[in-house]
Amino acid sequence: MTKAAKTIRAAAGKAPIDAALILGSGLSRLGDLLTDRITIPFSDLKGFPEGGVSGHGRDLLVGEMAGKRIAILTGRQHYYEQGDAAAMRPAIATLADLGAKTLLLTNSAGSLDPEIVPGELMVLSDHINYAGMNPLIGEETDRRFVNLVDTYDPALRAASVKVAEKLGITLREGVYMWFSGPTFETPAEIRMARTLGADAVGMSTVPEAILARFFGLSVWACSSVTNMGAGMASETISHDQTKQMAPLGAKKLNALIPELVAQL
Ligand code: HPA
Repeated sequence: MTKAAKTIRAAAGKAPIDAALILGSGLSRLGDLLTDRITIPFSDLKGFPEGGVSGHGRDLLVGEMAGKRIAILTGRQHYYEQGDAAAMRPAIATLADLGAKTLLLTNSAGSLDPEIVPGELMVLSDHINYAGMNPLIGEETDRRFVNLVDTYDPALRAASVKVAEKLGITLREGVYMWFSGPTFETPAEIRMARTLGADAVGMSTVPEAILARFFGLSVWACSSVTNMGAGMASETISHDQTKQMAPLGAKKLNALIPELVAQL
């Protein structure tokens, strides 16, 4: 068991957690969904991300949602912060140690599909690891050869589509392409990404999904679309715009995620 897992069990109790949720840029308010919540700053948890990006939180929350015991990371470390694709490995190993069977990932992303517009949600059906980095480089066991067919659990995807229908939320499905960041893409890169079959671009999620599969967790991931890809719309893309637009998607995720958790 990781040292962080021991710290969390000491603070939040020994009962296993059912699932964990990692919150993307501007989405940290989703932590409000937990009742009987305890908060542990990442700085108290060995191996948890220390830095930070504005619009992200830096706490681990443990509490109840829809009758399940849930851990929420209110922020994440991105590859672009330190050049470390495995930055989230200790945190995800800890979630596995605590008993999590499912990891729900959220992010903010740029859309490549004119039909998927800012403010909408897109559940990931698959990804393209365009950054080319892999969090399992250096792993020495044969477990490193992770099968990434159905990385994003088909049953969870289907369940979220049903829940969204029930709630009257438009939930798109598509392929997310991981760029390293921290720069936004060029218009030529966006045209390339569209040609290669991506529906959205972003700077996170893929390394965490790979790590979760490595540790045996089922994965569900959803993008909150904050902008059209570079060159596709007239407005200038910026991190401020990402943070400004995030609440639109956050509101929908706030409704969707508890209903999805209820079905885990
Ligand atoms: N590109 C990459 N990451 C992003 C974007 C984008 O257009 N929007 C929000 N995160």
